[in-house]
Amino acid sequence: MQWKALALALLVEHGSSQGTTPMLRFSCSQLVVDRLDPLVNPGIVPSPHLHQIVGGNSFNASMDPTTHDLPTASTCTSCTFSEDFSNYWTAVLYFRARNGTFKRVPQIVSEGLYGNGGITVYYIPSSNNKSTVTGFKPGFRMLVGDASLQSPGTARKVCHRCMPTSGDNSNINCGSPDAQTLPTGICAGGIRSVITFPTCWDGKNLDSPDHESHVTYGIGSGSNDVGPTGNCPASHPVVLPQVMYEVMWDTRSFNEKDLWPEDDSQPFFWSTGDKKGYSQHGDYVFGWKGDSLQRAMDTRCTGDACKELKTQTAEEAMKCTKPQVVKDDIDGWLTALPGNGMASRLVSIRA
Ligand SMILES: *[C@@H]1O[C@H](CO)[C@@H](O)[C@H](O)[C@H]1NC(C)=O
Ligand SMILES: *[C@@H]1O[C@H](CO)[C@@H](O)[C@H](O)[C@H]1NC(C)=O
Ligand SMILES: *[C@@H]1O[C@H](CO)[C@@H](O)[C@H](O)[C@H]1NC(C)=O
Repeated sequence: MQWKALALALLVEHGSSQGTTPMLRFSCSQLVVDRLDPLVNPGIVPSPHLHQIVGGNSFNASMDPTTHDLPTASTCTSCTFSEDFSNYWTAVLYFRARNGTFKRVPQIVSEGLYGNGGITVYYIPSSNNKSTVTGFKPGFRMLVGDASLQSPGTARKVCHRCMPTSGDNSNINCGSPDAQTLPTGICAGGIRSVITFPTCWDGKNLDSPDHESHVTYGIGSGSNDVGPTGNCPASHPVVLPQVMYEVMWDTRSFNEKDLWPEDDSQPFFWSTGDKKGYSQHGDYVFGWKGDSLQRAMDTRCTGDACKELKTQTAEEAMKCTKPQVVKDDIDGWLTALPGNGMASRLVSIRA
């Protein structure tokens, strides 16, 4: 069980400021890679750009928040914790060859975890052992980042790290050496992207028209903080667990300069058509069964083992997949990104 020791070591090594911060950290394998977005473009098939989606298999294009109950509508989940039928999704990374064709960059699982690509998901309670966080309510949704962003956004939310071959033991947050832009040089260990969600909720709305304004970041929470600070504004007084995604892109088969553009610029694009990097984003639809997440937060479970929660093996989690609905070719050498790599969010019709 060497990997378990490694996962724990990682948690401890992740930085002095968070050495003892308890946090769930677990793998959610790939459910499907598809051009769907039930949050921003509900019911619209196809959505503008490609996403990689993990979690419960009831995921679909519509997911009406008032009727779609993820734990009862799902028959399996691709996540380690088998009561977590939430859905998590992000943009997808492509490599552009000198001849102009695009190839999807494979994903790997974060150090210490097992699975098939997908997303490493974190839920972080307050590091102060006495303060409780309020688990999400059924129907809760939110998103972070903006698929059409072309310039720096709020520093803390979305960032990239150029990974070394091994031994990256610095903070998991978006502090230095992370950047909002994609790395400009060759990354021996691939590219990691991290998406950090807000931790303060207005306590009333499960969602909002922009899927963001019902939540906000804690006052004074900076790029070096991990977990909720508890310092929530009066408008958003309820302290939530901090949700964070870590996604590993295995760029190693593209790590040769003679495959890169002649002008030496970096060759990777988000599925939104963006090569600067600002447009990566993460979407979240809560779907834990009953009060399972709340119990795990209250007992300060850490890593991917928690006696309060039911777990399944990586093999079982990897069996939970869905057929692609939008039958784009996503894995060949493509003359264009799926959907032409459109960033734009169509106007959301749900209030
Ligand atoms: C999504 O799932 C719900 C509930 O399982 C179902 O009622 C709905 O028709 C599905 N929508 C699509 C677009 O498949
Ligand atoms: C474009 O370049 C890639 C990478 O070198 C290669 O695998 C692919 O076959 C090329 N496609 C065409 C149409 O030349
Ligand atoms: C919280 O409790 C854990 C486990 O008992 C302990 O390791 C950690 O140091 C505590 N953290 C704080 C901030 O008291």
